[in-house]
Amino acid sequence: MSVQTTIKRLTAPDITARKGIDPIVSLTAYHAHTAAIADPHVDFLLVGDSLGMVMHGFESTLPVPLDLMIMHGRAVMRGAKRALVVVDMPFGSYEESPAQAFRNAARVVKETECGAIKLEGGRRMAETIRFLSERGIPVMAHVGLTPQSINVLGGFKTQGRTRDQWAAIEEDARVVAEAGAFAVVLEALAEPLAAKITGEIAIPTIGIGASAACDGQILVMEDMLGLSPRVPKFVKEFGAVGKAIEKAITAYAAEVKARNFPEPRHTYDVKD
Ligand code: KIV
Repeated sequence: MSVQTTIKRLTAPDITARKGIDPIVSLTAYHAHTAAIADPHVDFLLVGDSLGMVMHGFESTLPVPLDLMIMHGRAVMRGAKRALVVVDMPFGSYEESPAQAFRNAARVVKETECGAIKLEGGRRMAETIRFLSERGIPVMAHVGLTPQSINVLGGFKTQGRTRDQWAAIEEDARVVAEAGAFAVVLEALAEPLAAKITGEIAIPTIGIGASAACDGQILVMEDMLGLSPRVPKFVKEFGAVGKAIEKAITAYAAEVKARNFPEPRHTYDVKD
């Protein structure tokens, strides 16, 4: 007789219910193997459109197509068994109308079987967030620095550095919460503003460059592993994976050059 244990995957409502209880742990993930390693340690994994920059060498997230998000979303779902998997909607796939957003978000959910999607924007996306949530698609919102708007924002800059910017950002967070978002990413926000928003809204705030005042933290996995060529100033590197890879490849190349091919000789024995 075989005993099968089913691991229950966390859901969007599970994440919402964590507000004010204990910190929510999350990372980005783009492929199956790292998703499997991170899975037992995180509450959710975000298949972020940052994959365009981190994995595909684009200068921004703007060129990322929907099909690429779906492909990486499927890989992460194969690797992660317990964490909620959230897939980012890429630039151009949701902003036009709630109907466009639903059509593309439904494709993401059907083809990846992820538990939620994320989209960028505050007030301007509130109608869409309500439309998707009421039709069965949990939405994580994202306010503050929204990388898909860098051409309007003028670069990857901290938001809310002067108090006259606060009201608009606070309103963005309040409105997405009221529209039904289950959590909201606060990116690159001054700490007192992140703390104020976290105290004002009923859904969890997930900070990236927004301080420990938030309900949870997300980092780009490659950044915290020490694997990204350019790492934002606020990121603590918990590993030196890029250096470890370089060291291993250098050692490998030296062995091959010395004709000391790293394979066991018996592999080539002839069986008579
Ligand atoms: O795409 C991404 O990785 C993100 C995180 C920075 C929150 O949106």
